[in-house]
Amino acid sequence: MSHATSVPVLTIDGPSGSGKGTVSALVAAHLGWRLLDSGALYRAVGYAAGMAGLDLSDMDAMARCAQATKIQFKADTDGGLTRVMVNGHDATDELRTETAGAAASAIASMPAVREALVALQLGFRKAPGLVADGRDMGTVIFADAPFKVFLTASASERAKRRYKQLKEKGLSVTLAGLQREIEARDSRDASRAVAPLKPAEDAVLVDTTGTGIEDVVAKVLAVVRP
Ligand code: DC
Repeated sequence: MSHATSVPVLTIDGPSGSGKGTVSALVAAHLGWRLLDSGALYRAVGYAAGMAGLDLSDMDAMARCAQATKIQFKADTDGGLTRVMVNGHDATDELRTETAGAAASAIASMPAVREALVALQLGFRKAPGLVADGRDMGTVIFADAPFKVFLTASASERAKRRYKQLKEKGLSVTLAGLQREIEARDSRDASRAVAPLKPAEDAVLVDTTGTGIEDVVAKVLAVVRP
């Protein structure tokens, strides 16, 4: 699956809660490279399907929806955040919700949905380089990438991070319950038939447990510029 192979790509894969999103954005800014948040694409398709009142378990309808949904990333005028436009509507906030995450997770297991998003993802590979954040960036989409990282963190650390986020939102959750959910999702993601979550053979494993964000960014940057 090669495309514009002279343009370097750094793939950053890993489970949710590993710090991928934050690390990818910081590393892309450091390098001056483009950023692909591939999870946002699955979230956008799930969101568009929900808006259209489609049945999320209908694989043909989801594949058509993935092909038809127009997704654009726009730099925020304040700098900082990137806004995500779905079919012309700014859906940035809606895409971060638990509902959008659950819809994304459901449709991400459908091969035809994944296939429909391949060309769009390859199109992000433009000079001077690309940081691609996701689950299958190094194993499937940019398998020929010269730089690959797999971020991990223990389930208990990821549960703690999630617990803090949800508590800040005022939600009532328990740490033990969150950890059980994370462990169950890890085993589902790692065992699904298409594009299971696993490190590429040539990926550098970076464990973020107990490590500050700046140290993680430095370790990831060292993979590109040793
Ligand atoms: O990284 P995230 O939480 O935004 O991802 C949302 C969902 O999409 C998550 O359930 C995993 C799935 N996903 C995927 O299957 N492949 C990717 N490259 C990115 C995300």
